Amino acid sequence: MTDMSERIKAMAAHTYGTWGSQKGWKAPLLITDAEGVYFFDSSGKRYIDFSSQLMCSNLGHKNKVVIEAIVKQAEKLPYVAPSFVTEILIEAVEALRSFFPEKLSKFFFSTSGTAANEAAMKMLRQYKFPAYKVISRYRSYHGATAVGQAFTGDPRRWYAELARTVVDGVVFAPDNYCYRCPFAMTYPQCNVQCARYLDYMIKEEGNVAAIVVEPIVGTNDNCGHIALFLDHIVQVTGALHVALRISDAERAAVAVIVRCEDYTVHHRASQLSVPAAPRQMKPP
Ligand SMILES: Cc1ncc(COP(=O)(O)O)c(C=O)c1O
Repeated sequence: MTDMSERIKAMAAHTYGTWGSQKGWKAPLLITDAEGVYFFDSSGKRYIDFSSQLMCSNLGHKNKVVIEAIVKQAEKLPYVAPSFVTEILIEAVEALRSFFPEKLSKFFFSTSGTAANEAAMKMLRQYKFPAYKVISRYRSYHGATAVGQAFTGDPRRWYAELARTVVDGVVFAPDNYCYRCPFAMTYPQCNVQCARYLDYMIKEEGNVAAIVVEPIVGTNDNCGHIALFLDHIVQVTGALHVALRISDAERAAVAVIVRCEDYTVHHRASQLSVPAAPRQMKPP
């Protein structure tokens, strides 16, 4: 037993692992390096990082552009309280405004996707009062807190529900999951029934304030025909005056509450350009 493996075990014994049984949090893999699309464990074994860890290193590990930006800001001004403003914040808002449609012009900065969803729920319920229900999808993940878990359709929610740590008022819709269609239909003959069913849900549920959609599903399979699905939702939510919240971890954290007539954001998000990761690592 090496000294390091003892220290890893001790670390695990004194911490809680996330999103798994604590029995499985015994000797997590030690990662010692990462570069470009690869990461390495302590034995030097190389892995292709298909998920950019948790979609947070999408520009590649050790991307020089990202490192330089972090260092530059840390040297200049690492932190000020949110009641003040900094030049970089002004620049960020200007960049967002130049990208989003004119009517999508108000932004809330949060420290995580989960916190964005907490804030969205507060805004949605105040804006749409007295409507309060939110329709989410079964195959979705939206964060780890009470609102994030309430929005989450996948089985991780079950444990939070049992522990009564979710907020109420969230109902789930069938997914646009062509591989195992919940309506046992086949595209295109299905006429995108999954999206059409949402009209029915909104009308029959009543008091629906919003639909929450994760267009590129992170941890629950990539379902298919999302553009058609979203186009339909945009029409329905516009017609029925329901807010639409798009929460997309895979595409540069595009997380917005959309008034439906403003929805060109999905199409514009596809055009996002980001600095490429430097190609320093050569395959063996
Ligand atoms: C769609 C979506 N929403 C919210 C979250 C939660 O984000 P965070 O881990 O930054 O709290 C995730 C994380 O994977 C996500 O994929």
